[in-house]
Parts: sequence; C-alpha cells; structure tokens
Amino acid sequence: MIDFLKHMPKAELHIHIEGSLEPELMFRLAKKNSIPLPFDTEEQLRAAYQFSDLQSFLTIYYQGAGVLRTEEDFYDMTRAYMERCHSQNIIHTEIFFDPQTHTDRGIDFGMVVAGICRALDEGKKKFNISSHLILCFLRHLGPASAMKTLDQAMAYKNEIIAVGLDSSELGFPPDQFKEVFEKALDKGFLTVAHAGEEGPPEYIWQALDLLKVKRIDHGVRCIEDPELMRRLLEEQIPLTVCPLSNVKLKVFHQMKDHHILSLLEKGLKVTVNSDDPAYFGGYLNENFMALHKELGMNKNQAVALAKNSFEAGFLNPEEKRTAVLRLEAYAKGSE
Ligand code: HPA
Ligand code: ZN
Repeated sequence: MIDFLKHMPKAELHIHIEGSLEPELMFRLAKKNSIPLPFDTEEQLRAAYQFSDLQSFLTIYYQGAGVLRTEEDFYDMTRAYMERCHSQNIIHTEIFFDPQTHTDRGIDFGMVVAGICRALDEGKKKFNISSHLILCFLRHLGPASAMKTLDQAMAYKNEIIAVGLDSSELGFPPDQFKEVFEKALDKGFLTVAHAGEEGPPEYIWQALDLLKVKRIDHGVRCIEDPELMRRLLEEQIPLTVCPLSNVKLKVFHQMKDHHILSLLEKGLKVTVNSDDPAYFGGYLNENFMALHKELGMNKNQAVALAKNSFEAGFLNPEEKRTAVLRLEAYAKGSE
C-alpha cells in the first residue's frame, strides 16, 4: 500500500509555496541575504514548529518568508518543491503565493513571479509536471491592500490563473473582500478561498455566494451545517483538505478524528493536500500515508481522492481525461 501511494499519479491543489521553504534553505538564504533569524540552528527552528492554532503558525511562517529577497531565492524555493513533486509522482500542481508578504518588505512583485515561474517552467520541461499559479490575498491586511495587489497582478495576468484568500481567518470573513473578488472575476481570474478551516460554515457560504469560488480551501467545518453539506454535494464543489496541517494547527485533535474519509464516502469532492509541507511534517505522500495509517484509507479511497484532485484542478477537459486515464491505468496495475 505504501508503495502504491508513493507511485500513484496525483495532483496537489493547496500548497503555499512559502510554506515549502525548508529550514536548510531558510538558513542558507538568511546567511546569504544577511537577515538575522531568532534561531541558532535548524534543529532549534524545527523545535519551534509546535503550533496551538493558525495564528501561532502564521507568525513563524511570515518570519520564515522574510529570508526571500531575490529572484534566485524564489526560484530556488520553487525548484526544490518541483523536485519533491517529481519524487512524489505529483504530475500537476496549483501553487499559492502571498505577494503582500514580499511587496510589504519592498520586494518587487514581478521579481517574485519571475522566480517562481522560472522554476515552474523548468519543472514542466524537466519532469513534465504541469502547474498553475494562484495569488492569495492576506485577509488580515484588509480589502484595500488586496485591491492594490490585484492591480499590481494585472501585469502578470498570463502567469496567474486565479486569486485566493488566506491568512488569519477568524474576524476576517470573506464578505469583506466581495469587491476585490468581483473585480478579479471581471478581469478573468478564477477564484478560490480558504474558508471553514477555523472559521464557521457561514464563511464557506460567503465564499461560495459572494466570492464565487470554484473550490473551498480546507472547508472542513462544513460538517456543522447540513444545508451546506447538501450544497457541496449537489454542486460537487471541491474541498482542498490538508490533513497534516489540520492536526498540526489543532483543527482536529488527532488524525484519528479527521473526517476526510467520511466526507469522501458521503460523495463530497474532497482532495488531499499538504498546505505548508516544510512546517507540518510532510509533503503530499506523507499526507496520504497518514490517512492510510491512522484512518485505514484503502486503495479505492486513495484512487478516488487522487481522481478528485485532477477533476477539481484548473485543467482543461482533455488534460483531466488524460490524467484520470493514467491514474486508472496505474490503479489496474498496468503502469
Ligand atoms: N490557512 C490560512 N493561511 C495560510 C495557511 C492556512 O492553512 N497556510 C499558509 N497561509
Ligand atoms: Zn492553506
């Protein structure tokens, strides 16, 4: 089973590229860019990755992203992630980036995009991994800053397929960003949003009805609202669930409590994702393996989750068909 999961073709739809920055690269970049870190060693840094909730993680995560300064830095980080994708049989990935984390430090928006896209292009050529880039607005900075960021993004419209919403959820409901998302939709971006990670089901409703999202990132608190569950099921709205993240950030007390497989069995379009793999103890395969080990996920369920990952991606119908056929051939043992 472990081998089956490792080699299974799959897509990742919820990964913050800044959350793939491993301590080793963080220390190298900090030294190169003369940026002080409040930790002396990688071990000390890793030991600090004990979180009580989303906010306790975000503080450390934004601090870590502070070592990224040059185009090469963004390239190095993204290239390392693409190599992980290759080693984990991720054949398609849709990555988030948080431009405000960088532009607020005086870093050029275009340089961030250039570094990330160079590594994504290389990943396509070298490993045949397809990808899309999704811009996430930081909800704690409010709608005016998001609007300014959207205006900056217009110059990179060809590189960015969608906009999303991340950072501190509680107290920053999606409705605050209605105008920003209306403008983004009008300009031709697709939309997604983090909702129902720590926030209530109401935030998921708002993301659907006001932000017109194609997917909900996390969305696990949908379980509290039967009417919402019916809507997600009927419209087959994908949820990009991140099991290891949810346990690390105490959304669930332990993996055994996670309801991803029961959502799958109810027919919801759930997918498995790593969120911030450098901080949460693993990449996509480690998430699949945890579901097997702790929740008893079987082969059929693993294949259904991987199939959902292709169907919920921003791939065209032909690309989806090809990927699903490849997965089905693999599941039958013919790959
Ligand atoms: N939630 C909200 N914002 C984030 C996350 C998350 O899980 N990871 C990185 N930014
Ligand atoms: Zn996330």
